[in-house]
Amino acid sequence: MHDRQALDAIYAHVQPLLGQGRVADYIPELAHVPREQFGMAIVKLDGEVLQVGAAEQRFSIQSISKLFALVLALQSEGEALWQRVGREPSGTPFNSLVQLEAEGGKPRNPFINAGALVVTDVLCSRFATPENALVGLMRRLSGNAALDYNLKVAQSERRHSDRNAAMAHFIASFGRLANPVDRVLDAYCSQCSIEMNCVELARAALLLAQHGSVPHSGERLLTPSLAKRISALMLTCGTYDAAGDFAFRVGLPAKSGVGGGIVALIPGRCGICVWSPGLDETGNSLAGTAALEMFTTLTERSIF
Ligand code: DON
Repeated sequence: MHDRQALDAIYAHVQPLLGQGRVADYIPELAHVPREQFGMAIVKLDGEVLQVGAAEQRFSIQSISKLFALVLALQSEGEALWQRVGREPSGTPFNSLVQLEAEGGKPRNPFINAGALVVTDVLCSRFATPENALVGLMRRLSGNAALDYNLKVAQSERRHSDRNAAMAHFIASFGRLANPVDRVLDAYCSQCSIEMNCVELARAALLLAQHGSVPHSGERLLTPSLAKRISALMLTCGTYDAAGDFAFRVGLPAKSGVGGGIVALIPGRCGICVWSPGLDETGNSLAGTAALEMFTTLTERSIF
């Protein structure tokens, strides 16, 4: 089936799922977002955009920011980054602390919260304002100079960040943070609060679909090898303890966020983003995962 037909079929198919799942109410500002919304966009390497539903409605990208923070950290640290954070799936929820104690404060991967805090620490050492560096990258990748982070959402999360604070202090107790915990948490919460829509995120994912260069500008930001590594991490760790089931059902590298977004890509072909705020019990968009599963099934295109 063609992509356009697939999007229309998906839109019809997900309607009964749209009231389901829970919004991320542990960040109070996100608790009010209506659950029934759904949008999906595909941006091809030649710039063609296909979209359905609320694909131009901005939402909180949350953990999807971890993907692009990793891009910035790898640009500055290269392979040395792996001394500070691992690259194995955790098999635990995104905000779990349990493995840190037995593993000397080194997080399993850069996509769980613990790993993302270490990545943010790297960015705090590298940039005066890491949140602005990340916003700058997202503006370049999406082609939209107006996007920004949402201070209200950032402050809301920061006021309720006991668990991430515990995690950051615990990592620091192993001597594994270079910057003050408060500084790292401020930057981390700001990064998570960046607001983008499906079209913008699908376009941003072209960086990886095009093996490290930005299609609309031709700019090379990553070597093909680093782009491959990041995409591999998306497949194995991008949806947390659901990564095995997600790979089984969808078969694409992807990164989710508790705002209900999931960004995915088909190497050499397109960036994809789907958004629907109702989450399943692992913190991934319920309708979004179903939509991506249907997309790869109907189009018969995945990485396998
Ligand atoms: O740190 C947190 O808990 C949130 N700012 C982000 C978590 C998240 O998006 C996990 N994704 N599925």
